[in-house]
Amino acid sequence: MHNAAFAARGINAAYLAFEVVDLEGCIKGVRSLGVKGLSVTIPFKQDVIPLLDDVDGLARDIGAVNTLVNEGGYLKGFNTDAMGALRALEEKTDLSGKRVVIAGAGGAARAIGYILKLQEMEIVIANRSQSRGMALSESLGCRFVNLKKLADIKADILINTTPVGMFPDVDECPIPQEALREGMVVMDVIYNPFKTKLLATAEARGCLIINGLPMFIYQGAEQFRLWTGLDAPVDVMTEVIKRELA
Ligand SMILES: NC(=O)c1ccc[n+]([C@@H]2O[C@H](COP(=O)([O-])OP(=O)(O)OC[C@H]3O[C@@H](n4cnc5c(N)ncnc54)[C@H](OP(=O)(O)O)[C@@H]3O)[C@@H](O)[C@H]2O)c1
Repeated sequence: MHNAAFAARGINAAYLAFEVVDLEGCIKGVRSLGVKGLSVTIPFKQDVIPLLDDVDGLARDIGAVNTLVNEGGYLKGFNTDAMGALRALEEKTDLSGKRVVIAGAGGAARAIGYILKLQEMEIVIANRSQSRGMALSESLGCRFVNLKKLADIKADILINTTPVGMFPDVDECPIPQEALREGMVVMDVIYNPFKTKLLATAEARGCLIINGLPMFIYQGAEQFRLWTGLDAPVDVMTEVIKRELA
């Protein structure tokens, strides 16, 4: 996706995957080699923070960094998952004054919860384990319900951030059917498959559905902007991702 974007904008850069065995050594290497930017993924999104020179305010609140920018040896961390999710939602629906239920309380839920809190939405966290669910709801200053009780909440928007329904377990659905009411907006952060069981069920019940692809592409587009200062060629990135995932 990023290599196609660099080519489309005529930028002489390459995006490569590295399996990191020593995070501190990796960050030293980034500084000494002059690597311009990085994506950071599981399991390093939290552990990388103390190794950086600066962390953007939103990423600090979320407690996770997924993007690094290297300005002449000065490393700054950002979280673009949050912006990706916001853009994916905003292009389909108006968020102001809406009640959103976020299923899950892990990294994706934290990123989405913090950015939606900034939109002054009413948020409810629904999670399987009480400990993690309560911890997130307390830091967001919002309500918590057990995932099994999710149908008790009348929400305008529901976002699944659990991995339930992801390939190969494509017949699983984390949300009780009764919680999916006609007219709701239902987003799943999973993008493999494109249409999860949750989204297929929600669509059949008259909900507007959003899959995990736009969030993924827009978080990458925001990374591209941070690294290059240019707007990302989103059409090119979308085409590549759809082709690769298919
Ligand atoms: N589209 C995108 O751009 C994008 C970006 C980031 C992540 N993602 C996707 O988001 C998903 C979650 O990632 P994450 O980093 O947030 O993971 P995570 O930190 O491990 O959190 C997973 C959450 O799902 C819950 N969960 C896991 N298995 C469950 C089950 N069988 N039943 C009910 N709840 C369950 C966990 O609940 P407990 O607290 O009870 O364990 C936890 O709240 C992954 O599928 C990932 O690929 C997509």
